[in-house]
Amino acid sequence: MLEQIISIVRQAGEIVLSAHDVWSQTHEKSSAADLVTEYDLAVERFLKEKLPPLMPGSLFFGEEEKENADPLTGWVFIVDPIDGTTNFVRGLKQSAISVALAHDGAVEYGVVYDPYKDEMFSAKRGGGAFLNGRPIHVSERSLSEGVFGMGTAIYDRQFLAPTMRVTEQLFRRSCDFRRLGAAALDLCNVACGRLDLFFEYSLSPWDHAAGGLIITEAGGVISTLEGAPMDYAHRCSVWASNQVNKGILRELEV
Ligand code: IPD
Ligand code: CA
Ligand code: CA
Repeated sequence: MLEQIISIVRQAGEIVLSAHDVWSQTHEKSSAADLVTEYDLAVERFLKEKLPPLMPGSLFFGEEEKENADPLTGWVFIVDPIDGTTNFVRGLKQSAISVALAHDGAVEYGVVYDPYKDEMFSAKRGGGAFLNGRPIHVSERSLSEGVFGMGTAIYDRQFLAPTMRVTEQLFRRSCDFRRLGAAALDLCNVACGRLDLFFEYSLSPWDHAAGGLIITEAGGVISTLEGAPMDYAHRCSVWASNQVNKGILRELEV
Protein backbone atom coordinates (compact mmCIF):
# COMPACT_ATOMS: atom_id res chain seq x y z
CA MET A 1 0.00 0.00 0.00
CA LEU A 2 2.69 2.50 1.01
CA GLU A 3 4.63 1.92 -2.22
CA GLN A 4 1.47 2.34 -4.29
CA ILE A 5 0.59 5.62 -2.58
CA ILE A 6 4.17 6.82 -3.07
CA SER A 7 4.05 6.02 -6.78
CA ILE A 8 0.78 7.94 -7.28
CA VAL A 9 1.97 10.92 -5.23
CA ARG A 10 5.20 11.03 -7.25
CA GLN A 11 3.12 11.22 -10.45
CA ALA A 12 1.06 14.03 -8.91
CA GLY A 13 4.33 15.86 -8.28
CA GLU A 14 4.78 16.10 -12.07
CA ILE A 15 1.63 18.25 -12.20
CA VAL A 16 3.15 20.63 -9.63
CA LEU A 17 6.46 20.78 -11.52
CA SER A 18 4.69 21.44 -14.83
CA ALA A 19 3.16 24.67 -13.46
CA HIS A 20 3.47 27.90 -15.45
CA ASP A 21 1.63 31.25 -15.44
CA VAL A 22 0.35 30.34 -11.97
CA TRP A 23 -0.83 33.85 -11.01
CA SER A 24 -3.26 33.88 -13.94
CA GLN A 25 -4.70 30.57 -12.74
CA THR A 26 -5.12 31.63 -9.11
CA HIS A 27 -8.43 32.40 -7.42
CA GLU A 28 -9.28 33.80 -3.99
CA LYS A 29 -11.33 31.55 -1.71
CA SER A 30 -12.28 33.45 1.47
CA SER A 31 -9.70 36.27 1.13
CA ALA A 32 -6.52 37.40 -0.63
CA ALA A 33 -4.62 35.22 1.89
CA ASP A 34 -6.66 32.11 1.03
CA LEU A 35 -5.82 31.04 -2.52
CA VAL A 36 -6.49 28.09 -4.78
CA THR A 37 -4.90 27.52 -8.17
CA GLU A 38 -5.89 25.38 -11.12
CA TYR A 39 -2.95 23.17 -10.12
CA ASP A 40 -4.36 22.50 -6.62
CA LEU A 41 -7.57 21.42 -8.34
CA ALA A 42 -5.78 19.31 -10.96
CA VAL A 43 -3.64 17.50 -8.35
CA GLU A 44 -6.71 16.82 -6.21
CA ARG A 45 -8.69 15.51 -9.21
CA PHE A 46 -5.79 13.20 -10.09
CA LEU A 47 -5.45 11.88 -6.52
CA LYS A 48 -9.20 11.45 -6.14
CA GLU A 49 -9.24 9.29 -9.26
CA LYS A 50 -6.12 7.23 -8.42
CA LEU A 51 -6.07 6.74 -4.63
CA PRO A 52 -9.46 5.23 -3.63
CA PRO A 53 -9.11 2.20 -5.96
CA LEU A 54 -6.05 1.17 -3.90
CA MET A 55 -8.32 0.37 -0.94
CA PRO A 56 -11.77 -1.00 -1.80
CA GLY A 57 -14.53 0.90 -0.01
CA SER A 58 -12.27 3.81 0.90
CA LEU A 59 -13.48 7.42 0.83
CA PHE A 60 -11.78 10.72 0.05
CA PHE A 61 -11.35 13.78 2.29
CA GLY A 62 -9.57 16.55 0.38
CA GLU A 63 -8.99 20.25 0.99
CA GLU A 64 -10.58 21.38 -2.26
CA GLU A 65 -13.65 19.09 -2.15
CA LYS A 66 -17.11 20.69 -2.01
CA GLU A 67 -18.47 17.77 0.00
CA ASN A 68 -16.21 15.55 2.03
CA ALA A 69 -16.52 12.11 3.54
CA ASP A 70 -16.52 11.64 7.33
CA PRO A 71 -12.78 11.37 8.08
CA LEU A 72 -13.35 9.27 11.20
CA THR A 73 -15.25 6.32 9.69
CA GLY A 74 -13.78 3.46 7.67
CA TRP A 75 -10.81 3.87 5.34
CA VAL A 76 -10.36 7.50 4.26
CA PHE A 77 -7.66 9.22 2.22
CA ILE A 78 -6.95 12.64 3.81
CA VAL A 79 -5.37 14.81 1.12
CA ASP A 80 -3.82 18.24 0.74
CA PRO A 81 -3.12 18.49 -3.01
CA ILE A 82 -0.71 21.40 -2.55
CA ASP A 83 0.34 22.34 0.96
CA GLY A 84 1.99 25.75 0.77
CA THR A 85 -0.19 27.27 -1.95
CA THR A 86 1.02 30.82 -1.25
CA ASN A 87 4.62 29.62 -1.72
CA PHE A 88 3.54 27.83 -4.91
CA VAL A 89 1.84 30.92 -6.39
CA ARG A 90 4.92 33.01 -5.62
CA GLY A 91 7.44 30.55 -7.03
CA LEU A 92 9.09 30.01 -3.64
CA LYS A 93 9.41 26.25 -4.27
CA GLN A 94 8.50 25.19 -0.74
CA SER A 95 5.29 23.18 -1.17
CA ALA A 96 4.27 19.55 -0.88
CA ILE A 97 1.60 17.00 -1.62
CA SER A 98 0.29 15.38 1.55
CA VAL A 99 -1.62 12.07 1.62
CA ALA A 100 -2.68 10.12 4.69
CA LEU A 101 -4.72 6.94 4.75
CA ALA A 102 -6.70 6.64 7.96
CA HIS A 103 -8.84 3.82 9.33
CA ASP A 104 -11.61 4.68 11.80
CA GLY A 105 -9.82 7.88 12.77
CA ALA A 106 -6.29 6.46 13.11
CA VAL A 107 -3.71 7.33 10.45
CA GLU A 108 -2.13 4.13 9.13
CA TYR A 109 -0.06 5.49 6.21
CA GLY A 110 1.43 8.92 5.59
CA VAL A 111 3.22 10.31 2.53
CA VAL A 112 4.49 13.89 2.07
CA TYR A 113 6.29 14.73 -1.17
CA ASP A 114 8.34 17.83 -1.97
CA PRO A 115 8.59 17.66 -5.78
CA TYR A 116 11.12 20.51 -5.95
CA LYS A 117 13.71 18.67 -3.86
CA ASP A 118 12.40 15.27 -4.94
CA GLU A 119 12.04 14.37 -1.26
CA MET A 120 9.52 11.66 -0.44
CA PHE A 121 8.73 11.32 3.27
CA SER A 122 6.74 8.22 4.18
CA ALA A 123 5.58 6.13 7.10
CA LYS A 124 3.39 3.16 7.88
CA ARG A 125 2.13 2.79 11.44
CA GLY A 126 4.65 0.65 13.36
CA GLY A 127 7.07 0.56 10.43
CA GLY A 128 9.29 3.61 11.01
CA ALA A 129 9.64 6.77 8.97
CA PHE A 130 11.66 7.26 5.80
CA LEU A 131 13.01 9.95 3.50
CA ASN A 132 13.56 8.62 -0.01
CA GLY A 133 13.67 5.11 1.43
CA ARG A 134 16.23 5.86 4.18
CA PRO A 135 15.16 5.75 7.85
CA ILE A 136 14.81 9.15 9.54
CA HIS A 137 14.74 10.16 13.19
CA VAL A 138 13.95 13.33 15.12
CA SER A 139 16.93 15.27 16.47
CA GLU A 140 18.29 14.99 20.00
CA ARG A 141 18.95 18.72 20.23
CA SER A 142 17.65 20.81 23.08
CA LEU A 143 15.91 24.04 22.17
CA SER A 144 18.80 26.11 23.52
CA GLU A 145 20.88 24.71 20.64
CA GLY A 146 17.90 24.34 18.32
CA VAL A 147 15.81 26.03 15.64
CA PHE A 148 12.03 25.79 15.72
CA GLY A 149 9.44 26.18 13.00
CA MET A 150 6.11 27.92 13.37
CA GLY A 151 3.03 28.76 11.35
CA THR A 152 0.85 31.84 11.52
CA ALA A 153 -2.59 30.18 11.37
CA ILE A 154 -3.43 32.48 8.46
CA TYR A 155 -7.04 31.32 8.17
CA ASP A 156 -7.79 31.89 11.89
CA ARG A 157 -6.37 35.30 12.61
CA GLN A 158 -7.84 35.44 16.10
CA PHE A 159 -4.76 33.41 17.07
CA LEU A 160 -2.32 36.17 16.13
CA ALA A 161 -1.65 37.33 19.72
CA PRO A 162 -1.04 33.86 21.25
CA THR A 163 1.02 32.87 18.19
CA MET A 164 3.31 35.84 18.76
CA ARG A 165 3.44 35.18 22.53
CA VAL A 166 4.54 31.57 22.04
CA THR A 167 6.98 32.56 19.29
CA GLU A 168 8.61 35.11 21.60
CA GLN A 169 8.90 32.63 24.47
CA LEU A 170 10.43 29.93 22.24
CA PHE A 171 12.70 32.38 20.43
CA ARG A 172 14.17 33.57 23.73
CA ARG A 173 15.08 29.94 24.53
CA SER A 174 16.36 28.93 21.06
CA CYS A 175 18.91 29.86 18.40
CA ASP A 176 16.31 30.98 15.83
CA PHE A 177 13.03 30.14 14.14
CA ARG A 178 11.62 29.67 10.63
CA ARG A 179 8.20 30.30 9.06
CA LEU A 180 8.58 28.20 5.92
CA GLY A 181 4.92 28.22 4.80
CA ALA A 182 4.04 24.55 4.26
CA ALA A 183 2.94 22.83 7.47
CA ALA A 184 3.22 19.27 6.11
CA LEU A 185 6.88 19.93 5.29
CA ASP A 186 7.44 21.66 8.64
CA LEU A 187 6.34 18.43 10.34
CA CYS A 188 8.64 16.35 8.12
CA ASN A 189 11.49 18.74 8.87
CA VAL A 190 10.98 17.95 12.57
CA ALA A 191 10.77 14.23 11.74
CA CYS A 192 14.17 14.22 10.04
CA GLY A 193 15.85 16.50 12.58
CA ARG A 194 16.23 19.64 10.46
CA LEU A 195 13.96 21.47 12.92
CA ASP A 196 13.75 20.64 16.62
CA LEU A 197 10.16 21.70 17.28
CA PHE A 198 7.14 23.16 15.44
CA PHE A 199 3.88 24.77 16.47
CA GLU A 200 0.87 26.40 14.83
CA TYR A 201 -2.42 27.49 16.42
CA SER A 202 -4.77 26.20 13.74
CA LEU A 203 -4.30 23.55 11.08
CA SER A 204 -6.69 21.33 9.14
CA PRO A 205 -6.58 17.53 9.12
CA TRP A 206 -5.05 17.48 5.61
CA ASP A 207 -2.16 19.65 6.84
CA HIS A 208 -1.06 17.38 9.69
CA ALA A 209 -2.48 13.85 9.17
CA ALA A 210 0.41 12.45 7.09
CA GLY A 211 3.17 14.52 8.72
CA GLY A 212 1.91 13.60 12.18
CA LEU A 213 2.36 9.89 11.55
CA ILE A 214 5.78 10.53 10.00
CA ILE A 215 6.83 12.42 13.18
CA THR A 216 5.69 9.73 15.60
CA GLU A 217 7.25 6.99 13.47
CA ALA A 218 10.48 9.03 13.50
CA GLY A 219 10.46 8.97 17.31
CA GLY A 220 8.88 12.38 17.92
CA VAL A 221 5.61 13.54 19.43
CA ILE A 222 2.62 15.47 18.12
CA SER A 223 -0.37 16.83 20.02
CA THR A 224 -2.48 19.95 20.20
CA LEU A 225 -1.16 22.89 22.20
CA GLU A 226 -3.54 21.76 24.95
CA GLY A 227 -1.75 18.40 24.98
CA ALA A 228 -4.73 16.55 23.46
CA PRO A 229 -4.48 13.96 20.65
CA MET A 230 -4.76 15.28 17.09
CA ASP A 231 -8.25 15.90 15.71
CA TYR A 232 -8.94 14.63 12.17
CA ALA A 233 -12.48 16.02 11.97
CA HIS A 234 -11.84 19.70 12.80
CA ARG A 235 -9.15 22.33 12.70
CA CYS A 236 -6.89 22.20 15.75
CA SER A 237 -3.57 23.47 17.06
CA VAL A 238 -0.34 21.52 16.59
CA TRP A 239 2.70 21.01 18.80
CA ALA A 240 5.35 18.71 17.27
CA SER A 241 8.66 17.97 18.89
CA ASN A 242 11.58 15.69 19.42
CA GLN A 243 11.77 13.89 22.79
CA VAL A 244 14.13 16.44 24.35
CA ASN A 245 11.86 19.45 23.89
CA LYS A 246 8.40 17.96 24.28
CA GLY A 247 8.04 19.06 27.93
CA ILE A 248 8.52 22.74 27.04
CA LEU A 249 4.82 22.81 26.17
CA ARG A 250 3.95 22.60 29.87
CA GLU A 251 6.23 25.53 30.67
CA LEU A 252 4.76 27.90 28.07
CA GLU A 253 2.27 30.64 28.68
CA VAL A 254 -0.08 29.85 25.78
C1 IPD B 1 -1.25 26.24 4.78
C2 IPD B 1 0.22 26.05 4.98
C3 IPD B 1 0.76 27.10 5.91
C4 IPD B 1 0.02 27.11 7.23
C5 IPD B 1 -1.47 27.23 7.03
C6 IPD B 1 -1.94 26.10 6.10
P1 IPD B 1 -2.27 25.60 2.36
O1 IPD B 1 -1.75 25.26 3.89
O2 IPD B 1 0.50 24.78 5.50
O3 IPD B 1 2.11 26.89 6.22
O4 IPD B 1 0.47 28.21 7.99
O5 IPD B 1 -2.10 27.15 8.28
O6 IPD B 1 -3.31 26.19 5.93
O7 IPD B 1 -3.46 26.50 2.51
O8 IPD B 1 -1.14 26.25 1.67
O9 IPD B 1 -2.61 24.25 1.86
CA1 CA C 1 -2.31 22.89 3.74
CA1 CA D 1 -3.58 23.16 0.23
